[in-house]
Amino acid sequence: MAKLLSMIKLLVRLSFIFLVVPCLCCPAYQKQSLLHFKSSLLNNYHTSNSSSFGLESWDSISDCCKWTRVVCSSYSRDITALHLGDLHMHGEYSPVDIRILDPIFDIRSLRFLNISHTGIEGEISGEGLANLTKLTYLDMSQNGLNGSIPAQLFQLRFLQSLDLSDNSLKDGLSREIGKLENLRSLKLDRNSIDGNIPVQIGNLTRLQKFSVSRNKLLGPIPDSILNLKGLEKLDVSNNYLEMHIPNGIGTLFHISILELSGNSITGLIPPSIRNLSKLETLQLEDNMLSGEIPSWLFDIESLKNLYLGRNKFIWNNNVKIVPKCMLSQLSLKSCKISADLPEWISTQKNLNLLELSDNQLTGNFPLWIAEMEIESLLLARNKLTGSIPFPLFQSHNLSVLDLSRNNFSGELPQNIGHALKMTVLMLSRNNFSGSIPKSIVDIPSLILLDLSRNRLSGNTLPVFGPYWSPAYVDLSSNELSGDIPVSYFSRISILALGKNKFSGSLPRNLTNVQITEYLDLHDNNITGYFPDFISQFSNLQVLSLRNNSLHGSLPSNSFYNGRSLQILDLSSNNLVGSIPSELGNLSGMSGIDEVYSVSDSIGEIELNWIEATVSLFSGMYTIEIEMNDLTVNWKNAMQGLSSHNRRIYTLLDLSNNKFSGDVPDSLGNLKGLKLLNLSYNKLSGYIPQSFGDLQSIETLDLSNNNISGTIPQSFSKLKQLSVLDVSNNKLSGKIPRGGQMDTINDLSYFANNSGLCGMQIKVKCSEDEPTPDDVQEEDDDVEQEPWFLWTGAWIGFPLGFISSVLTAFLSGYFVIPTPKYHSIHYRH
Ligand SMILES: *[C@@H]1O[C@H](CO)[C@@H](O)[C@H](O)[C@H]1NC(C)=O
Ligand SMILES: *[C@@H]1O[C@H](CO)[C@@H](O)[C@H](O)[C@H]1NC(C)=O
Ligand SMILES: *[C@@H]1O[C@H](CO)[C@@H](O)[C@H](O)[C@H]1NC(C)=O
Ligand SMILES: *[C@@H]1O[C@H](CO)[C@@H](O)[C@H](O)[C@H]1NC(C)=O
Ligand SMILES: *[C@@H]1O[C@H](CO)[C@@H](O)[C@H](O)[C@H]1NC(C)=O
Ligand SMILES: *[C@@H]1O[C@H](CO)[C@@H](O)[C@H](O)[C@H]1NC(C)=O
Ligand SMILES: *[C@@H]1O[C@H](CO)[C@@H](O)[C@H](O)[C@H]1NC(C)=O
Ligand SMILES: *[C@@H]1O[C@H](CO)[C@@H](O)[C@H](O)[C@H]1NC(C)=O
Ligand SMILES: *[C@@H]1O[C@H](CO)[C@@H](O)[C@H](O)[C@H]1NC(C)=O
Ligand SMILES: *[C@@H]1O[C@H](CO)[C@@H](O)[C@H](O)[C@H]1NC(C)=O
Ligand SMILES: *[C@@H]1O[C@H](CO)[C@@H](O)[C@H](O)[C@H]1NC(C)=O
Ligand SMILES: *[C@@H]1O[C@H](CO)[C@@H](O)[C@H](O)[C@H]1NC(C)=O
Repeated sequence: MAKLLSMIKLLVRLSFIFLVVPCLCCPAYQKQSLLHFKSSLLNNYHTSNSSSFGLESWDSISDCCKWTRVVCSSYSRDITALHLGDLHMHGEYSPVDIRILDPIFDIRSLRFLNISHTGIEGEISGEGLANLTKLTYLDMSQNGLNGSIPAQLFQLRFLQSLDLSDNSLKDGLSREIGKLENLRSLKLDRNSIDGNIPVQIGNLTRLQKFSVSRNKLLGPIPDSILNLKGLEKLDVSNNYLEMHIPNGIGTLFHISILELSGNSITGLIPPSIRNLSKLETLQLEDNMLSGEIPSWLFDIESLKNLYLGRNKFIWNNNVKIVPKCMLSQLSLKSCKISADLPEWISTQKNLNLLELSDNQLTGNFPLWIAEMEIESLLLARNKLTGSIPFPLFQSHNLSVLDLSRNNFSGELPQNIGHALKMTVLMLSRNNFSGSIPKSIVDIPSLILLDLSRNRLSGNTLPVFGPYWSPAYVDLSSNELSGDIPVSYFSRISILALGKNKFSGSLPRNLTNVQITEYLDLHDNNITGYFPDFISQFSNLQVLSLRNNSLHGSLPSNSFYNGRSLQILDLSSNNLVGSIPSELGNLSGMSGIDEVYSVSDSIGEIELNWIEATVSLFSGMYTIEIEMNDLTVNWKNAMQGLSSHNRRIYTLLDLSNNKFSGDVPDSLGNLKGLKLLNLSYNKLSGYIPQSFGDLQSIETLDLSNNNISGTIPQSFSKLKQLSVLDVSNNKLSGKIPRGGQMDTINDLSYFANNSGLCGMQIKVKCSEDEPTPDDVQEEDDDVEQEPWFLWTGAWIGFPLGFISSVLTAFLSGYFVIPTPKYHSIHYRH
């Protein structure tokens, strides 16, 4: 009985507990805030499917402490951490207004907030953040944050880790200037600007990690940063900071990562850095630091990663370095080292990156380097000679090798294929000879192969496997001969085989050519029937077949519709027939506003042929490699489309073939064209009026055809035109006046026609000469001017012309307004 009674008592007590403490849940208002956040997020993506974000557990019924990405205090049940990084839908980030975060600022119990890489844009709300007084970790990196860093951030005194990197944060300066109503004069002396990193940063005395890299911050880092005695990581790289490195930096004893690269930092490396006994990473690359590179840097025993390249340092070849450190990464790019490869490097047994490009290194490739098993070895643009020792390729670690622009010679070692980890092999612009070792196809991970500009020969190219081949192959400017294996066309994005001795026909039956985007085969002796071949390449953006032996005509079918070809160079072949009007449908040549800079991400490597860069992301470091130029004909001079030039080149060159018939009107649709060359053909008919719509055109060459009629008056609309060659045709009538047409006055551009006249060639049009267009009435006034004025102008013009061509040349080939870029990244 007593037993029963006590059981009843227990039951009552349990139900009592159950009634009084209904649920160990998160506070209702915090749950509401998160639900509010979630619905704004779904709205933003125009979806109602929360599982796209992995937020299906976030519902109004369950306890929010059990939700994904949410952590509560086990004691108070308040939310303490929100892991909202990488919040996106199926890998797609759509821009999200930062106000989406407003509900989260009500959750005052937060200690950890991660909203990295979620597509958030806009200015950080200082008032909102000020609410989160307990924050210790804040990660807002990789978003589209702009405006300034709010001062309230520096009231969060418990903050230990603050990451604002990869945003667009900058000064509130421009806004402040707007407030200065009575401003008379303002001198924006950069040194007088208080930096964008506020002095209050010194209040965050618990800060251990501070990262604002890749923003747009100006000015110095305030000295108050020296208060942060617990700082372990300071990363302000890739901003616009202008300052000296304070000597007091040596008092931040806990610093292990100091990244200052990519700014405008001047002065010397302060000696106090020696005192940083935990320093592992010192990144000073791409600044304006000067003085001698101190040899004591190598006495810092903890040092692992040292980047000093591209400053104004002096390297003292006579100082004997006996390193006490054991480096993993050493980059001394462009440090004016003029000597043999420094031998002390051989003591660095753990080295996985060695970059000594852009120096004046001399001597042979030392055997000891070959045996060091380095992962990334970059020695480009030096004066190294001799052959590559074969032990280099016995390495199990070698992944990136760039020896371009040296004076290496001899044959490539046959064991190249033993370097099974190799992804990038660049040996261009040396003096290598012999054939390409067959074993190269054994390297399973090779992505980029550049052997251009050597003296390599042989008539059998290595054949890459059917399922795999590199994405980028440049073998141009060698002495290679024979057929080009079909496998080269099937899976390679960028293929450059120009300036060799290849012969044989192009393949007719390619089945899998979805990938090739860039194909340059100029200056070979490739034969075959062109129409069979072209339609197989639907993704091409660049095609150069200049100076080969192709025959047949251009197909007149729907192939061109919507194609993204931007460079088509078929000059100097044996092509016949008419120019199909369908060419005018090439949409890659018709855009003028939208320019797509397509890049390829292949594994860790990103290729971008327009920007002529290759970036390699290798965990710890990024390597940028320059691609070769594409050679085209610019007004009878072969020139490279310069790399490092972010502009897009759009050109159509059909010159020096046997095309006949009319010039199609539809070519006037190609409004993006910078160069149109139809010279040296057998074209007849008239110059289409529509050519006046080629609003980007700079060079128009119609010379050496049988074109008759007049030069359309519409040419006076061509604002970019600097070269117009119509010589050796049957044109007559008045050369249009106005705009750029007035500056085109080289007699040879108009020579050998059937009666052109106009001030450009100093031939007066007879009174009864029918003018091409009678609209131009004000022109008649000009025509009444006495001849001596014309003569004066005549002297002035050539100078102007030469200087405009020179400007075109110096400014990187084309004089065009910088277009807007869109980057499409896609993965295979
Ligand atoms: C929601 O998205 C997931 C995957 O993202 C998908 O499997 C599911 O079918 C979608 N549900 C609805 C109702 O569309
Ligand atoms: C924040 O989230 C991102 C993306 O999920 C992650 O890479 C990063 O390490 C997180 N930051 C912290 C401090 O945990
Ligand atoms: C910040 O970005 C938002 C959205 O992209 C824009 O509306 C706003 O003008 C920008 N603010 C500043 C200061 O650049
Ligand atoms: C700060 O918190 C209070 C109360 O939690 C809230 O009313 C206020 O809106 C919050 N401020 C911001 C800017 O979110
Ligand atoms: C923050 O720093 C400023 C300037 O260094 C100082 O005047 C202020 O008193 C500090 N505030 C707190 C709360 O420590
Ligand atoms: C390094 O620290 C010691 C003691 O902490 C100090 O005496 C010395 O001046 C410092 N060296 C430099 C170069 O700042
Ligand atoms: C080479 O790779 C091996 C295994 O991956 C690794 O243990 C070794 O440390 C590497 N050597 C160097 C110098 O990086
Ligand atoms: C390259 O090295 C060869 C000897 O191997 C030498 O004759 C030649 O002058 C060098 N060329 C340059 C440009 O240094
Ligand atoms: C290339 O090597 C050959 C000998 O193999 C030499 O005659 C020639 O000068 C070298 N070319 C250059 C540019 O150094
Ligand atoms: C293409 O044709 C050649 C010979 O004509 C043949 O050897 C090859 O297998 C064909 N390739 C494909 C993909 O059909
Ligand atoms: C055309 O190519 C051949 C090699 O196939 C070369 O010898 C010749 O110089 C090239 N012609 C022009 C004009 O570049
Ligand atoms: C190109 O090849 C054809 C035959 O395939 C040959 O007749 C011609 O002489 C070659 N031209 C050159 C410049 O080698």
